[in-house]
Amino acid sequence: MNLSRLTKVKGYVSTDGLVEVLKDLKYLLRRGFLGLPRIEVLELLDLEANNFEIKIPNYKHGSTRNASLSINEKVVIATICNLLKPKTVIEIGTFRGETTDLIARNLVDSDIYTLDLPPNFSSHNYRAVPDDLEVLTLRRHDLYIHPSYVTNSRIHQIYGDSAKFDFELLNKTFSLAFIDGAHSYEYVKNDTEKLLPLMELGGWLIWDDYSFNFPEVIDYVNTLRHKGAFHIYGTRLAAMRV
Ligand SMILES: C[S@@+](CC[C@H](N)C(=O)[O-])C[C@H]1O[C@@H](n2cnc3c(N)ncnc32)[C@H](O)[C@@H]1O
Repeated sequence: MNLSRLTKVKGYVSTDGLVEVLKDLKYLLRRGFLGLPRIEVLELLDLEANNFEIKIPNYKHGSTRNASLSINEKVVIATICNLLKPKTVIEIGTFRGETTDLIARNLVDSDIYTLDLPPNFSSHNYRAVPDDLEVLTLRRHDLYIHPSYVTNSRIHQIYGDSAKFDFELLNKTFSLAFIDGAHSYEYVKNDTEKLLPLMELGGWLIWDDYSFNFPEVIDYVNTLRHKGAFHIYGTRLAAMRV
C-alpha cells in the first residue's frame, strides 16, 4: 500500500489520494483472509446486462442453528441460478430441502439431484466433525421433498453416504454442484473429487461452510486456490468455475 498517496497540503491531509488508498486497503483485506481471494458476486456475474427476478422462499421450519443458508447466501445462490441457468444440478446434503427448493424455484425446467443419508442411517462408524453429528439429529426427511416446495423444476431425492455413493450411476453431467454434506477434510475432498469429473465446462462448484466453524472445509478448499477457487465476499460460500 502506498501511503505516500496521502499527501499533506498546507498541514491538512489531502483527500486526493484517499480513493486509491481505500482501493489498496480493500484489496489487502480481501486477499487471503481465510486463504482464498475474496471476490464480490458483482465482479463475477454481469448483473447490469441481465433483468431477472430472484425468488427467496422463507420457511418457518427454517435455518436451524445455521445449518441452512443465510439470506445473503440465498441471494447469491439464487442469482447464480438465474444467470447461469444450469440444466442439471447436484447437491450433497439435503437437510430440510431449503436450498434444494431455492435452486428449483430459481430455475425453469432443470433437474436437481440432492443426496442425503437414508432416513434409517445409523451414525455408528460415521467419522464426522461434531457439528455434523448434531445436524444429523436435526434433519427432517419428511421435508426432503415437501409438497410446499412448488417448483418449475424437477427435484430427485437420492439416498446414500457420499463417501460410498457412485455419482456416475446417475448418468448425468452437472453445471452446478453444491457441496454441503459432511464437513470433515476427507469428506469434502471425496465429494469434490467425485463431482469434478462430472462437471460441465463453465459449470460452478460451490462449497458451503467455508468459515471458521469448519476449519477442515477451509483446509481442503484452500488446496484448490491454484485452480481458481475463491471465497464469495460476505458469505460462507466458496466457489470454483470449472
Ligand atoms: C448442513 S446440512 C445441509 C443443508 C442444506 N444443504 C441446506 O442448505 O439447507 C448437512 C446435511 O448433509 C447430510 N449428510 C451428512 N453426511 C452425509 C454424507 N456422508 N452423505 C450424504 N449426506 C450427508 C446430513 O444428513 C444433513 O442433512
